[in-house]
Formats: sequence, C-alpha cells, structure tokens
Amino acid sequence: MIVGVPKEIKSSEGRVGMTPAGVFELVKNYHTVYVQSGAGEGSGFFDKDYQQAGATVLDTIEQVYAKSDMIVKVKEPIAEEYDLVQEGQIVFTYFHFASSEALTQAMIKSKGICIAYETVEDEEGTLPLLTPMSEVAGRMAIQQGAKYLEKPVKGRGVLLGGVPGVAPGRVLILGAGTVGIQAAKMAAGLGAHVTILDVNMKRLRYVNDIMPSHVVTEFSNEFNIRKHIQSHDLIIGGVLLKGAKAPNLITRDMLKDMRPGTVIVDVAVDQGGCVETTKPTTHGNPVYIIDDVVHYCVANMPGAVPYTSTVALTNVTLPYVLKLANMGWRSACNLDKTLAKGLNIVEGEVVYKEIVEAFHWESALA
Ligand SMILES: NC(=O)c1ccc[n+]([C@@H]2O[C@H](COP(=O)([O-])OP(=O)(O)OC[C@H]3O[C@@H](n4cnc5c(N)ncnc54)[C@H](O)[C@@H]3O)[C@@H](O)[C@H]2O)c1
Repeated sequence: MIVGVPKEIKSSEGRVGMTPAGVFELVKNYHTVYVQSGAGEGSGFFDKDYQQAGATVLDTIEQVYAKSDMIVKVKEPIAEEYDLVQEGQIVFTYFHFASSEALTQAMIKSKGICIAYETVEDEEGTLPLLTPMSEVAGRMAIQQGAKYLEKPVKGRGVLLGGVPGVAPGRVLILGAGTVGIQAAKMAAGLGAHVTILDVNMKRLRYVNDIMPSHVVTEFSNEFNIRKHIQSHDLIIGGVLLKGAKAPNLITRDMLKDMRPGTVIVDVAVDQGGCVETTKPTTHGNPVYIIDDVVHYCVANMPGAVPYTSTVALTNVTLPYVLKLANMGWRSACNLDKTLAKGLNIVEGEVVYKEIVEAFHWESALA
C-alpha cells in the first residue's frame, strides 16, 4: 500500500502522524511511504531521518494526498484539506466529527474511509488511541501547576515538594482515571501530599494499592470537595463522563473558599471542564485569574510537548497502521473489532451512530 504522511497545518500543532521508526516498519513490510517535507520538524524528526528510514519526501501536501492510498496524520483535516481527500482513500487520524458538521459533511462528500483514533475502542470500553494523550496531559498538569504556584505568576508561592522543616504542597486530584493517576504519580514523585477523589471504588482501590502512603484516596462528593479545596494548593480536574459534558464539581461560589493563589489545572476543559469558571485557553495565553484563583485550562496540553506526544501516539497507532496497510481496511476491520470501532464515515456514509445523533440526522435518515 502507499501510505502518506502530510504536515499538520492546524495552528500550533507540532505533532506528526508517523515517526521514522514507523516508516521503517512499513517499508520492511514492502509498503511505500511518502512524507511531506518538514512534516516531522515540530517533533524533532527531519526529512533526512525519514529518508534514511526508507520514505520518499515530497514537497507539497497536495502531492502526498494525491499519491497515497492511506493518509496517516494527527489532527482532523482543516478546511484547506477537505478537497484533498479522495474517493476510497483511508484517512486515519483524530476526527472528533461530533464537534464539526462542516468537517463531517466534507468527509461524506469526499467518499473517503475515515477511521477516527478517538473511537477505536477495545472490549473493556477503553480507548487505546486516546490514553497516551491523557497520560501526557496528566503528567504535564503537575509540571504546569507547580510553575503557576510560583509568586511572580500570582500563585501561592508554594514549592510542591517543600524543603526540610517545611511541609510539602498539597495537591487535590478530581478523577482517578488516566489523567488523575498520572498526575498523582508526578505529584507524589515531587514529594507533595496528594488527595485523589473518584466515584468509582475500583479506581480508588487500585490507586490505594499502587501509590505510596502520601497519596490518599477519598470518595468524590460535594462535602469532601468543599472541605479539601480550602487546604490544597493545586487542584487538578481529570473527571470524565463518557460522551457527556464534565460535571461542574467546583462551582463559582466555591472559589472564595480557596486560599488566594490556589491553582486549578482543569485538564477536562476539552469536555467543558469540571470547574464552573473554566474556559478554554491556549499555550500562548494559558492562564487567567478569577477571585484570586489561577485557572490553567489549555485544551490541547500535549501540543506543548510534541516530541513526547508524537512518540506516545505513534507507539499505539502503528500496529493499526500496519494492519490497515497489510490487509486493507475491510479485512483489517473484519478481523479486529477494536479497530472496526474507529470506522466513522465509509464511502460517503456515516457509520458511527453518535455522529448521526450529534447532528440530529436520525429523522433525515429514517
Ligand atoms: N486538556 C487536554 O489537553 C487533555 C488531554 C487529554 C485528556 N483530556 C481530558 O481529560 C479528561 C480525563 O480523561 P481520562 O483519560 O483521565 O478519563 P478516564 O475515563 O480515564 O478517567 C475519568 C475518571 O473520572 C471519574 N469520575 C467520574 N465522575 C466523577 C466525579 N463526580 N468525581 C470524581 N471522579 C469522577 C471516573 O470514575 C474516571 O475514573 C477527559 O475529559 C479528557 O478528554 C484533556
């Protein structure tokens, strides 16, 4: 198969859909790989690295789309790319169709095969191609939180690890999922006192089993949240209700109970956030302050560490890329039910029911 790797053109996106290691594996399996010149630069991979791994570097995005049977990328195509997708061409990337009717209509019109990373789902209901980005964001949340606790950026002036004779900082984590556990691990590693809340006892038992004793688990309810926000320096929002908006566990009135300079890193901002005062920010302007509480609400946190994010993402996408290239999408999806869940639009037809529901197209289809 001919596989194409275009450069991401969405603003501030430094990730790339394939590393030279991925090219090497595909070429080893007798496939041809075209990489757009400069595609990997944001992640620290250069044209010569791809060429050494066996890829052919092409000058333009148009050439890459025109010559490839399958496009492997990171972000959803933006308007300039809509017309580049060809009939029968596989596009394997994050799509998030439900948040853009224009993109959905464009991909229907293209008659391409759209396989979305975010809906590839295994039998236990986990999303293996989303997990690495939550891992990155969870770990980064502590790094960013620690930075914004510093006084010059209006934080409380607390060093998370403390020093001999001074108690460590206190970190409250809402949600003991992927984000929460990775955040807890980083905070615990710095020596901070960590409280982690969840409504799922299984998750709390797991955290309790694997974490050191300065990571304390408690059940998530309003009483406990109101109590803990008064004494914690850094609050991480890592709650997810699958397919729904995140619940507002911290309401506006609760900010006044926090100490001035408390920092909230609401990682769940991409699902609306678990703090009422959360609104999406960017890496260029990541924080704002309400009632003396610093809010960090960057919706694409992994974008700030493109090398780590690219490698983490491609580690998990490559086995599926290989399967698609070796077998073609029909056989690969017939044999692998996890991958088949990623099929969203096939040759002009929406095959993922949540997209139809998101745009209320059910009646049109009936
Ligand atoms: N901002 C970013 O750049 C970025 C990057 C990656 C992920 N995310 C987002 O982070 C969020 C968390 O992702 P995840 O992969 O950790 O999800 P996850 O499903 O692994 O974990 C979510 C956890 O929230 C818990 N939860 C549900 N209701 C709760 C409540 N009322 N109180 C406490 N806990 C509750 C669940 O039991 C679960 O353990 C998602 O919204 C995800 O989209 C954001």
